[in-house]
Formats: sequence, C-alpha cells, structure tokens
Amino acid sequence: MSLLEVNHLDVRFALRRGDVQALRDVCFSLDRGERLGIVGESGAGKSVAAFSLLNLIAKPGYIAGGSIRFDGQELIGLSDRALRRIRGHRISMIFQDPMMTLNPVLTIGEQMVECLKAHRRISTRDARAISLRKLEQVQIPSPEARLDQYPHELSGGMRQRVIIAIALLLDPDIIIADEPTTALDVTIQAEIMALLLELCEEHNVGLVLITHDLGVVSQVTQRMLVMYAGRVIEQGPTREIINDPQHPYTQGLINALPQMATPGERLNQIPGSMPSLSHLPSGCAFHPRCGFVTRPDGSTRQACVDEVPGFVTSGNCQAACHMVAEMIERERIPAEEQDS
Ligand SMILES: Nc1ncnc2c1ncn2[C@@H]1O[C@H](COP(=O)(O)OP(=O)(O)OP(=O)(O)O)[C@@H](O)[C@H]1O
Ligand SMILES: [Mg+2]
Repeated sequence: MSLLEVNHLDVRFALRRGDVQALRDVCFSLDRGERLGIVGESGAGKSVAAFSLLNLIAKPGYIAGGSIRFDGQELIGLSDRALRRIRGHRISMIFQDPMMTLNPVLTIGEQMVECLKAHRRISTRDARAISLRKLEQVQIPSPEARLDQYPHELSGGMRQRVIIAIALLLDPDIIIADEPTTALDVTIQAEIMALLLELCEEHNVGLVLITHDLGVVSQVTQRMLVMYAGRVIEQGPTREIINDPQHPYTQGLINALPQMATPGERLNQIPGSMPSLSHLPSGCAFHPRCGFVTRPDGSTRQACVDEVPGFVTSGNCQAACHMVAEMIERERIPAEEQDS
C-alpha cells in the first residue's frame, strides 16, 4: 500500500448555471519519499487536485466522489479537527505566493513557534530552537536575525526559503508544492528547487510537485502525471514519459520545450487551447486539437470523437488515448492477420 492513494477523485464547482466538473476520475499514488510531478496547461486542474488532497477546496467547490487514503486513513469526510492534525503536520503545502502562508503581522519566529505549539506540547524556547534549526537547514543568511523579522523585510527568494522551512517544521511525510518557484526570479528558481529537492531527499519526504515546467519535472521527479481538462491523460515513470511520450498531448508538451527546437526554428506549440470545463468536447477532450484523429490513410478514428478513452498500458506508462490503444492492438495481432 502506498503512503498516499487517490482513487477516482471527482471534484466539482457548484455554479449557478450548473456543476462544473474540475476533476474527473483522478487516480494516482505516492510512496514514502517518492517525488511525483503533475503537469498540464493552465486550467487543467492541477491546483484543484493539490487543494482537494487536504480538503482545502473552497466553496462553491466540493469533493463529489472518490477516495484519498493517506497512511491507510480515508481523508474524505474527515472532520476539520482531524484534518487540521494532518495538514501542516504530516502533509504540508507550499504555494506559489509565499504570502498565502505567511502572516504579514507576525514575525517569522512568531509564526514558526505558533505552528509548532499548535501541533506539539513544547515550550516557546524549544520551539524557537527548532525554528532556528529549520532556518539554518534552508540556508538563510543570518537565520537568528530572521526570526525577529517580518515577512515584508525579506526578499522573495528568502520568503520562499522560510516557506520551505515552515513546510518542514513538523517533519511531514509529504510536501505538496504548487508552482513553488514561479513567482521568483529565474536565477533564484533553480536554487530554491535544488534546495527543496535536497531537503526532501535528506528527510525522506514525499513530494507532489505541480508545475508548468517540464524541464523541472524531468530533473526532480521520479514519476509524473499529465493532466488535461480535469483528467489524468498519461502517467508513469518520468524518464519514460519524457523520452517516449505516448499521448499526443504529452508529445505536444514535450515538443514545445525550447531545447527540443532547433535554433532559429519556431517552437512547436500545440495548436488551439484547452476547452472550458463547462463545454467539454465529446469523446476525448483533446480530440479537437489532436493530429491523430485522422489516420495516415485519411480515415477518421471515430472513437476519438465519440468515446472517452480509458487507460491503456504501454511499458510502465498508462495513457488514455484511442490511437495508442489501436497501436498496441496492432502490435499484438500478427501482421498476416492484419493483412487478411
Ligand atoms: N473557485 C472556482 N470556481 C469555479 N471554477 C473553478 C474555481 N477554481 C477552479 N475552477 C475550475 O477548475 C479549473 C482548474 O483550475 P486549477 O486552478 O486547478 O488549474 P491549474 O491547472 O492549477 O492552472 P494554472 O496552471 O493556471 O495554475 C479551472 O479552469 C476552473 O474551470
Ligand atoms: Mg494552479
């Protein structure tokens, strides 16, 4: 059994014109100390997935179905009190904007001490000592002085270091990081990511890393999920997916990476844009943008237009795509039978 098991997660937003289904049938797992990347274009449902793990979906959002098991315990339906014990303590979150976590009217030290005391029976003095140690771990210059500073007195990079220190404060099993470096200068992004990776490895903390940046995912994670319009459309070991993506959407994302383009050549962007969740196309939600709906012989792969694809397994990866399913089926059936 994995440390975190998400099965058939279904999240909706109850809007006046009807429910919008933000996540459909999302399944994934995370082992202890494992690092999982979640990628996809803006609006794919990455943040909704992250927030729903700790039941932090704000109204009108709600979890409409599925299961989230953490260390054998079902989190869906758990009381706020029970969830608070897990949140921050065994599972912490790092957001893009440090100010979502930091309280502007408290010093860094006050917030860290408060957080420790909320979860542990501990003296202020001991809590301060632990806080200092965590600030040292995130390699903040003059950590002792930082304890008495307010968030606005720190640079963006330093704030994000403090956020990582807070995320690690209670020695969690998992950190969920939603675009943890996007708000930072490019030069600082790599530093902060390296720090997060190093600390997760050192403390055997599992990481769910949400990012637009496939390059980061390929460097940092062992497994990855690709999301499109609220669904997982491909998942598997990161290296396999990056080297040999099965789903046309994943292929498009990887082809759009700058290093894939020859200098002087235009980036190979996926044409079109992701559909609105309230007006999903029929069949495979990606089909209006997909170059594989038409077969090489000119015929249409009608299933792409009519049926939502299920997962097919290829190597260690799974992809939800009719074309991939057809290819696998072809390989399975000997060539002579196909000809006859
Ligand atoms: N408060 C809300 N009310 C209604 N719909 C929402 C709300 N929050 C999210 N959604 C729906 O869920 C979809 C997914 O949103 P989400 O924030 O998870 O995208 P994302 O993949 O994190 O995108 P980004 O890369 O831009 O952060 C949105 O496109 C929207 O349709
Ligand atoms: Mg997001």
